Amino acid sequence: MLHNLFPSIFSQTSKPPLFEPGELQFWNDPHISKSMLEAHLDQTHDRASRRTAEIEKTVSHLTYSGFLKTGDRVLDLGCGPGLYSSRLCLEGVRVTGIDISRRSIDYARTQAEKEGLDIDYICADFFSIEYEETFDAVLQAYGEICTFSDEKRNILLSLIHRALKDRGFFIFDVSTRMLRMREGLQNRWYASEGGFWRPGRHLVLEEGFDYPENNTWLNQYIVADDDGTVKTYRLWLHDYSLETISKILEKNGFKVEQVWNSLSGESYREGGDWIAVAARKVQTDKEMNWK
Ligand SMILES: C[S@@+](CC[C@H](N)C(=O)[O-])C[C@H]1O[C@@H](n2cnc3c(N)ncnc32)[C@H](O)[C@@H]1O
Repeated sequence: MLHNLFPSIFSQTSKPPLFEPGELQFWNDPHISKSMLEAHLDQTHDRASRRTAEIEKTVSHLTYSGFLKTGDRVLDLGCGPGLYSSRLCLEGVRVTGIDISRRSIDYARTQAEKEGLDIDYICADFFSIEYEETFDAVLQAYGEICTFSDEKRNILLSLIHRALKDRGFFIFDVSTRMLRMREGLQNRWYASEGGFWRPGRHLVLEEGFDYPENNTWLNQYIVADDDGTVKTYRLWLHDYSLETISKILEKNGFKVEQVWNSLSGESYREGGDWIAVAARKVQTDKEMNWK
């Protein structure tokens, strides 16, 4: 019964204003969260999480290089199914993992129980964290910071800054325009009898929009159900250069300590798809004036 959908689809195909949200029920939609968990664990692609070998390399690199040490308290922000948290715990790091996806947190907890790992997994929105000077490091892997507008990103940076102990590290990665240009804009549609978005029959119209003046990109998915319901999902991606991310960090009370082309420690060169950063918490001018 995929009929009479055109008016509702057409109303959603125009280029939206920057960072206008799409359907809010994404991470905890019963079907999508199941597909997402499968994607996190799938070793044939790295669309939701990086593959196991790369995650293991990252944990080795961050512990070997001394950015994360045995006994450190580390906050894994947007931990998903705990792929980094569990490996860090095995290295003697005391980990708290936060994720908004109930399904991912349930999986992470079950795995930790099975493996006898003492990890504090919390299902919450990381914009609601209220930690103060608690963690030696905050890890946010796989470009999560790129998904936020400047305003929301700065709020998150201030929450991370507050959560860190003095001189603690914020370790994360951002994508660059290079990745975006290489991947290109997707413009396609397909009909499915069941897949990532829905368990039953549906149509997907995928469209990419570029906002070059803001270094931002939108992947938009319009999903039309058999019963005529149309929902629009949006994945916003703000890319950075070393210069732009360094300035933002500086304004938000961080000093870039080291950069790489990947969290697994690939040496930095300009023109890479990713920039991984270890930024140290420094006191902001405002804090200096309080003391
Ligand atoms: C790209 S995935 C990366 C997951 C994990 N860091 C990894 O690399 O395996 C982003 C994760 O952030 C979580 N997330 C997104 N927005 C969030 C929010 N506001 N609060 C907490 N978690 C959030 C998602 O549920 C998802 O697990």
